[in-house]
Amino acid sequence: MSDQYLDLTGTGAVRVLTITRPEKLNALNRATLAALRARLDALADEAALRVLIVTGAGPKAFVAGADIAEFDGFTADAAAAYARAGQAVFDRLESMPVPTIAAINGYALGGGCELALACTFRLMADTARLGLPETSLGLIPGFGGTQRLARAIGRQQALELILTGRQVSADEAVRLGIVLRSVPAAALMDEAQALADQLAARAPLALRYAREAIADGLDRPLADGLAAEARLFGLAAATEDMREGVRAFLEKRPATFTGR
Ligand code: COA
Repeated sequence: MSDQYLDLTGTGAVRVLTITRPEKLNALNRATLAALRARLDALADEAALRVLIVTGAGPKAFVAGADIAEFDGFTADAAAAYARAGQAVFDRLESMPVPTIAAINGYALGGGCELALACTFRLMADTARLGLPETSLGLIPGFGGTQRLARAIGRQQALELILTGRQVSADEAVRLGIVLRSVPAAALMDEAQALADQLAARAPLALRYAREAIADGLDRPLADGLAAEARLFGLAAATEDMREGVRAFLEKRPATFTGR
């Protein structure tokens, strides 16, 4: 299924959503952001979906940022509204009911880095570059970068990357904790698929509650996080999949999870 700037492949448990604007290094213009929002809304309601992989078309870029051509003539109010709208799209991505994997195949700059940061996991081709160069345009990251990067890697490292706009290699991105793994470029999609298959075989609600517990707790005092964990543990224990998982263990067979 494809529209002007997005392509969705696969029909089963794992789908691949590709940003397809390679002539502009997949820069996110308003039309692409709107299409992405609509597609994520639709995918969030798909019961068969277990894992979503996000990547960029062409050999050069994952996403080279928000579309700089659309910044000209911004007023402060219009720019703030633009940032809020972009944040809402990436919030939608982060809160998808299924885990998401950014397969960073090339430049992940600005909005591209922020898109990847809103995914559950990030795998990065060893040829790719990642960074938040907005300050070189006289801007700051506006689609969540100042918040998600600092939460992911800590204040000092995030300050350095954002204030200098420095791009990092995949190896450095792993060392900093921005991405899970650096992968030979030719193997990137296979690695993403392998991770997706691993996740897709597990109980979907358990994955969802585990993500929610981690996300909830990190923004709050430990006692609140522990309370959230206990509440979500209770929800997981009430699922059919928990009964199936326990039965399968006792019967020494693989579990078949249904997402209920
Ligand atoms: N917004 C709009 N257009 C962009 C873009 C962006 N973020 N990133 C790349 N493009 C466009 C270029 O303008 C060019 O278009 P053209 O062929 O019509 O002139 C095309 O994509 C190819 O990019 P080009 O700059 O020629 O490729 P390159 O290999 O020389 O450089 C980059 C690659 C990624 C280093 C460079 O494109 C770049 O710095 N992009 C902007 C990155 C950025 O600042 N992102 C944050 C935005 S907030």
